Amino acid sequence: MLVVGNWKMNLDLAAARQLTSAIASGIGSTDNVDVGVCPPFVDLDAVYAILHGSGIRLGAQNMHEADSGAYTGEISGPMLRAVGCHYVILGHSERRQFFGETNDGVSRKARKARSHRLVPIVCVGESLPQREAGDHERVVERQIQESLADIEISDASELVVAYEPVWAIGTGKTATPEQVASMHGHIRRLLEHLFGRAIGSEIPILYGGSVKPSNAEELFAQPDVDGGLIGGAALKAEDFLAIVNAARR
Ligand code: PGA
Repeated sequence: MLVVGNWKMNLDLAAARQLTSAIASGIGSTDNVDVGVCPPFVDLDAVYAILHGSGIRLGAQNMHEADSGAYTGEISGPMLRAVGCHYVILGHSERRQFFGETNDGVSRKARKARSHRLVPIVCVGESLPQREAGDHERVVERQIQESLADIEISDASELVVAYEPVWAIGTGKTATPEQVASMHGHIRRLLEHLFGRAIGSEIPILYGGSVKPSNAEELFAQPDVDGGLIGGAALKAEDFLAIVNAARR
């Protein structure tokens, strides 16, 4: 199981240090669960210094596809590696919605992330109108096929997929366990088709969208749910640790 906190555009340096210290001191062993946190870029270095030795891994929330150059305001893969990142979230629905990210762009970033030995957490998920129209499986299928196009992995640990229905993100509305199980099964079949059975059956598929301590255990118990990508509840150490504990059970 894998639990990753996506802090989004929250927490300045002091607050990031505080939350990281609370998580690192409360985590105990990470023997039977993988844990990651993805702070804003400016907090990465300081968070890494606190996480070091805790077993918790660092991730970023986005990355540019070039290694360096005239791209004002952007951050590259080598920069993320240099501050200790293991993961990078790519194609989060907020990036797709507010910053025009496309499946093609996500696939270029994912390939680049792999070339820098970063593990991409590639996000997919349908909007409410798409679900209501019964299009959710087709939409996610297209996102998976295009966002993961031509990415090469030799081990399932080199890629993570997160299913985050847009209507469940930050809304307090969680997908039902049945909806989650059905979509994760669909994604599993797509991954097995794309990467072959041996690897595709082992790539972690996270659920994201209003995961909290009260619903984490039930969601994590669904077939093909290998953990969670946590937004709001990752900003409180107590809640995040409770969700990590749910993943241990
Ligand atoms: P949420 O966000 O847990 O606040 O719904 C999840 C995400 O966007 O990754």
